[in-house]
Amino acid sequence: MNERTIALVTGANKGIGYEIAAGLGTLGWSVGVGARDDRRRSAAVEKLRAAGIDAFAVPLDVTDDASVTAAARLIDEQAGRLDVLVNNAAIAGDMPQEPTRIDPATIHTVVDTNVIGVIRVTNAMLPLLRRSAAPRIVNMSSSVGSLTRQSGPAAEHTAGPVSAAYAPSKTFLNAVTLQYARELSGTNILINTGCPGYVATDLNGFRGVRTPEQGAAIAIGLATLPDGGPTGQFFDDAGVVPW
Ligand SMILES: NC(=O)c1ccc[n+]([C@@H]2O[C@H](COP(=O)([O-])OP(=O)(O)OC[C@H]3O[C@@H](n4cnc5c(N)ncnc54)[C@H](OP(=O)(O)O)[C@@H]3O)[C@@H](O)[C@H]2O)c1
Repeated sequence: MNERTIALVTGANKGIGYEIAAGLGTLGWSVGVGARDDRRRSAAVEKLRAAGIDAFAVPLDVTDDASVTAAARLIDEQAGRLDVLVNNAAIAGDMPQEPTRIDPATIHTVVDTNVIGVIRVTNAMLPLLRRSAAPRIVNMSSSVGSLTRQSGPAAEHTAGPVSAAYAPSKTFLNAVTLQYARELSGTNILINTGCPGYVATDLNGFRGVRTPEQGAAIAIGLATLPDGGPTGQFFDDAGVVPW
């Protein structure tokens, strides 16, 4: 059995996910680089290893049951357990997303990745997480999923573009995270959602103002919560985000 803390980060080949993997690896952890594309995954693993990180490749498409099942099997064979799961993979979806104009297929695709993908991966990894002494699950959300921020007086500044797919997918993810926390209360599993802030990545055409490394900090914080720490909550770098 590996003595190092074992983590899996989904969508770790680029952007915030890559920096989460790098940050967790810097702690001396063994980090599974979950990524769907062979070349992008290999490149990320090589780059992390060149930086001295104990990274291993995990082929993973979060929308594909067989892929997710195989990923759980690989981690079981390689490590025998999982300590930390960071559900980071997500897509923005085709634009426009105004409710009156959106193609319903866009909503299906975004929810399948951003919500059902998280559920699919989490449930496949739970047997491995239950073998850990201190399991943590981090779901990467967004403050645009906050109904309070979408509707409050500050909405003009904090709500982002009108969206019937991406933003509600994060609201859905927050709600699902809370339900997991309810079901898992009484276990040692802590599950929370985090918002990285507005980060320059492919997701937003690099219009964000924060670096991926800055965006990764909230996930690293939630991945390293102490026993008895918060669960079923939504955080960013400034603290609790309203639902
Ligand atoms: N950037 C921001 O300002 C911002 C703000 C709030 C929240 N977030 C959240 O932060 C997280 C990371 O976003 P990011 O900005 O780093 O985006 P990104 O650079 O576009 O990276 C997204 C990652 O998810 C992967 N992915 C997408 N669909 C997948 C699938 N079906 N299976 C496996 N991997 C898949 C991508 O892989 P490929 O390379 O194969 O596409 C990529 O590795 C997301 O949950 C996002 O919603 C970002």
